[in-house]
Amino acid sequence: MQVKVAESEIRWVAEATDILAGVLQAKPEARIGWPTGTTPLPFYAELRRRAAIGSLAAQVSRAVMLDEYLDPPEAAFSSWSWLWREVWTPLRLGREQVLRMPHRSPGIDAACGEFERALAEGGGCDLLILGLGANGHVGFNEPGTAMDTRTRVVKLTAETADANAAYWRGRFTPEFAVTMGMATILEARQILLLVRGGAKADVLRRMLHDPVSSELPATFLREHEGLTILADPEAAAEL
Ligand code: PGA
Repeated sequence: MQVKVAESEIRWVAEATDILAGVLQAKPEARIGWPTGTTPLPFYAELRRRAAIGSLAAQVSRAVMLDEYLDPPEAAFSSWSWLWREVWTPLRLGREQVLRMPHRSPGIDAACGEFERALAEGGGCDLLILGLGANGHVGFNEPGTAMDTRTRVVKLTAETADANAAYWRGRFTPEFAVTMGMATILEARQILLLVRGGAKADVLRRMLHDPVSSELPATFLREHEGLTILADPEAAAEL
């Protein structure tokens, strides 16, 4: 595990971009996993800028989703639409290059198994980028999640539902979601945990110093040899 504290947001973005570029340089067909949320926004803005100038850091050829809302009421309120807008369209990916998270209730358990199979058959995930929830979740693996969990439907905690509703300015409050499980996440060859802002300082300290436990699913990431935690100064304030 490596913990990097960038001295500014510009450095934080540069570090994240360098890590992605390094993975793509070593393996141009690397499959990259992408989170939604507020945390990665400046990084994604930089990737759009790089894509526009044809930089290697933006030449992604395979992508996979980390999580998705279950039965989003409109396509607009989905991780899928969000990621196309913020990342994949600007990076010029095509539909066939992205492994989509299942998102409709009918047959969802079988679809989650199918997602796991497709991920494994395609060689897994080379670099999985993650955000850190204020309650210690990664993906939508909420407190109480076991380390051996796989892709499945989860009920969101009130805290996570509220944080997501705030993101959508109250127009949509998700209740259930579909997420890679902790075991799925830990199978990625490299993990980049992005942490940004003072609101994450407490959970980042706990993630690093509390006992490894399902109370704080992010602590499971400490078991992964290829983990890089990239924090900005505000998020690192309590380290
Ligand atoms: P955020 O969400 O980036 O919007 O803070 C992170 C998360 O909940 O995983």
